[in-house]
Amino acid sequence: MEKPLSWSTVVHAMGARPNFVKMAPIIRALAKRGSVRQVIVHSGQHYDLKLSDEILSDLDVPPPDRFLGVGSGTHGEQTGKALIGFERALMEEEPDLVVVAGDVNSTLACALAASKLGIRIAHVEAGLRSHDWTMPEEINRVLTDRLSDLLLTHSPEAGEHLLVEGIEADRIHFVGNTMIDSLRRLEPRARALAAWEARGLAARDYVLVTLHRPSNVDEPSRLEAIMDELAGLAERHPVLFPVHPRTRARLEAHDPARWSGVQLIEPVGYLEFLSLQLAAGAVLTDSGGIQEEASALGVPCYTLRRNTERPVTIERGTNLLLGDDPAAIGQIEPMAGEPVPCAIPLWDGRAAERIADIFEAVLAPASPVYESAVRG
Ligand code: UD1
Repeated sequence: MEKPLSWSTVVHAMGARPNFVKMAPIIRALAKRGSVRQVIVHSGQHYDLKLSDEILSDLDVPPPDRFLGVGSGTHGEQTGKALIGFERALMEEEPDLVVVAGDVNSTLACALAASKLGIRIAHVEAGLRSHDWTMPEEINRVLTDRLSDLLLTHSPEAGEHLLVEGIEADRIHFVGNTMIDSLRRLEPRARALAAWEARGLAARDYVLVTLHRPSNVDEPSRLEAIMDELAGLAERHPVLFPVHPRTRARLEAHDPARWSGVQLIEPVGYLEFLSLQLAAGAVLTDSGGIQEEASALGVPCYTLRRNTERPVTIERGTNLLLGDDPAAIGQIEPMAGEPVPCAIPLWDGRAAERIADIFEAVLAPASPVYESAVRG
């Protein structure tokens, strides 16, 4: 007997802050159609109110159906606990499709669990490559892509990477960027919030900073050099730095009074961060997603890394790679004038609708993909 589409279950696996932003539009698009049953499984890799709950509520994501409570730990511990938790959840939910996003430890863990159970996997943001195997995220990306059945890409070069790695063309779908779907939907609310005013900042005058990569913050002398440069920058323009817990923990070993010119604040929610990005004169980051958001907004982005897995933000956006010398921070100047948002193909706010179309086609009883899945 054919299984109707409405009997299909899609599990969304998420774990860390960037996942929530990428998956929220897909959950929303499928909910609007009402065509499948959706189950949200949160690994608990990020568990802070600031890193998890506030972001999920800003994005209007319904409360997770299951919370695995993985928490912090070494990469092995975190990935291992998530693998055990996701496997159990998948065995109980028996989904027809599992959706994972990005490159965090929870992404790989869930893909591994699903693949061993023979469940189809869709990877959102497939095909990104920094070609830097020292980054845990690069390992997570490559392995998750290898395990996935539907590779949903946000830029043409991502598809090219997958083809070079031998992934069949019919598994690759260029759908656009769901992170930009979230941004476009919430941009009017973020603009109305004017979070910069509440923090006493003038639009276009301040530099917004986020740094949390181990390569920037784990080595004390490097973190000190970066903070010294930020303090120098703060003598010219206000510097606002919402501090990730990893960075906060590393800064505790130093005397923060030395950098009193830099405004160190707690991580902020999605809407507030978007609002602060909208009016920033420049953004300094080592995050992946923020390079994309700043590019979409047309706000100059400076990336304190040697490489980026998002070259489209350099070719078509506002992103500049600073390399890994902290002295390069001295080059940052807030922009004069108003930003011109860049038009990267398919970063149009409709990526999740295209993904929902693909999911419905794949899960529909008449689909050859579905047929081969149920017949084994
Ligand atoms: C993870 C992702 C990274 C992503 C980042 C976004 C991996 C390998 N890395 O890195 O790709 O850019 O999230 O934030 O998955 N902590 C808290 N509260 C939390 C979460 C973490 O205090 O809610 C602390 C942990 O105890 C740990 C540190 O923050 O000391 C790092 O957390 P972890 O999730 O391991 O990695 P991230 O650096 O956040």
